[in-house]
Amino acid sequence: MNAPAMQGLAIQAPSYVKNAKLVAWVADMAALCKPETIYWCDGSQEEYDRLCQKLVDAGTFKKLNPAKRPNSFLAASDPSDVARVEDRTFICSQKKEDAGPTNNWMAPAEMRATLQPLFDGCMKGRTMYVVPFSMGPLGSPIAHIGIELSDSPYVAVNMKIMTRMGKDVYEVLGTDGEFVPCVHTVGAPLEPGQKDVSWPCNKTKYIVHYPETREIWSYGSGYGGNALLGKKCFALRIASTMGRDEGWLAEHMLILGVTSPEGKKYHVAAAFPSACGKTNFSMLVPPAGFDGWEVTTIGDDIAWIKPGKDGRMYAINPEAGYFGVAPGTNLKTNPNCLKSLDRDVIFTNVALTDDGDVWWEGLEDDVPGKKLPEHLIDWQGKDWTPQIAKETGAKAAHPNSRFTVAATNNPALDPAWDDPAGVPIDAFIFGGRRSTTVPLVTEGRNWTEGVYMAATMGSETTAAIVGQVGVVRRDPFAMLAFMGYNMSDYFQHWLDLGKKLEASGAKQPKIYTTNWFRKGPDGKFVWPGYGENMRVLKWIIDRIEGKAEGVDHVFGVSPRYEDLNWTGLDFSAEQFATVTSIDKAAWEAELKLHTELFQQLAHHLPKELPETKAAIEQRLAA
Ligand code: GTP
Ligand code: SPV
Ligand code: MN
Repeated sequence: MNAPAMQGLAIQAPSYVKNAKLVAWVADMAALCKPETIYWCDGSQEEYDRLCQKLVDAGTFKKLNPAKRPNSFLAASDPSDVARVEDRTFICSQKKEDAGPTNNWMAPAEMRATLQPLFDGCMKGRTMYVVPFSMGPLGSPIAHIGIELSDSPYVAVNMKIMTRMGKDVYEVLGTDGEFVPCVHTVGAPLEPGQKDVSWPCNKTKYIVHYPETREIWSYGSGYGGNALLGKKCFALRIASTMGRDEGWLAEHMLILGVTSPEGKKYHVAAAFPSACGKTNFSMLVPPAGFDGWEVTTIGDDIAWIKPGKDGRMYAINPEAGYFGVAPGTNLKTNPNCLKSLDRDVIFTNVALTDDGDVWWEGLEDDVPGKKLPEHLIDWQGKDWTPQIAKETGAKAAHPNSRFTVAATNNPALDPAWDDPAGVPIDAFIFGGRRSTTVPLVTEGRNWTEGVYMAATMGSETTAAIVGQVGVVRRDPFAMLAFMGYNMSDYFQHWLDLGKKLEASGAKQPKIYTTNWFRKGPDGKFVWPGYGENMRVLKWIIDRIEGKAEGVDHVFGVSPRYEDLNWTGLDFSAEQFATVTSIDKAAWEAELKLHTELFQQLAHHLPKELPETKAAIEQRLAA
């Protein structure tokens, strides 16, 4: 099946590929990128195993000890290629105002002219993998198909886990079906005889989207959202523009099911910025005091949400796997996640133990008195000991080290996780990472107040993004990095959907904002978080049922100490005050940041937002 890539080459597509547009596009891209060979992925297990072995042979993968971690691998990236590159990410709409002030923009023609010489010959000496994938259940009316061309076998095997990848996609595509073309190169052509490195990439990086023609072009990185193009590029940036045009939403949200002891089931979708707790919340294990409550995972990162015929909002998870943050994951913080990682995992940038297993900071923090491993190989291949860590502060695992694992490995997977009909949403949560100012949980008194909280959300930056960590920035709807069009138009889209829901007479989802991350004077998190977040989730469910009280304040409704269930947790009213207090001076300063955001987003900013702000300011001044 490997067709030799000659100049002006004829592409030998497998006989089951019958889409002429696709074959012509692959031929065009091969002529441009000039790979040595073309390989059409079929998505089989045999193929996955073969490509993993190829990655082992190339030194990209290390096979982990099968007795400890069956069928699992560890990849170490280049130290310069460890996270998403937001400053190299572009939305190339025809008009700059359609990308909006929060996106990097270049005119499509200019970007194409910039990329042309970079892509010319970019795959020399490498194989071009043709990766067919479906975001959403194969053949379902809500799913969309993409084809990623990549010169990275690491990408091909990750896409097998993260999406529905394989030759069945071509059946759905048929002779003239639609697909989103995604071209990816690590940007490291090999001259004849040149030895490859274990993680090829390029200092120059471009993550480019053309929303009008629904195309993705990615150059220079092999890592995560930069390279697995079904995820952020397609399922968020391109899909958000599809949603704008077609009346639905593509969101940076987990989706969970929560069942009460009475057997009533609710569904919650929650948007937290990158590395701010979505995977953890989606797999939450209710603590002591919550007997009979159950939480199940539908998705951990992305939700596509469409209004149903009954006027409710239905959400699906377009992905098929988790590309999750490793550090901090242990049997106490996220037992379901840790169990998901027992086998069949690709780890990237975690540390290697001397017995061929993996390790990361926080892995064993659940075991009191547990000593650090005596020796590890860190994510950069260097020796690591507790002594070295003490002297240099070196982390054994990169703070943005991740695992790639199939959703079906998750013991808490919801039975409806791949139901094409989706699940009806009862509440939306938006939650930033804030050491100060923002209280544990607040309910918007109406849709507009909820949209305001989401639109003005601030969060401290994390290691999921290349750049400075811990800087507070506005991250509207946790979509700052993933918005495919003008942010103000997106706010309007949310407000319009709210009106549509209201007009349908169906019960509208309530909107909440949360913050698990307030810190005390000692710099430590005050709220225990993780499973204990169930206490907040239950308050939210009780509010939906009209069963829980709260107190009205300047920007919404929050619980008092006595409104939460504290069974099984030693958390005092004083501690509760530390994570819920609303400080007048801090909120005056916070509202100035909202003003700055609204100035930046002035073009097309819905008037409801400054109106809501004015009402908050009045209440604050009173
Ligand atoms: P992306 O995959 O980047 O979109 O991240 P995510 O939102 O899924 O974040 P994830 O759940 O992987 O958590 C990121 C980090 O935050 C991990 O180190 C977690 O241990 C930590 N974390 C998650 N939930 C909590 C919480 O409730 N409290 C505290 N203190 N930390 C948390
Ligand atoms: C995020 O950064 O929000 C992620 C990781 O989920 S990545 O896939 O690299 O974008
Ligand atoms: Mn994410």
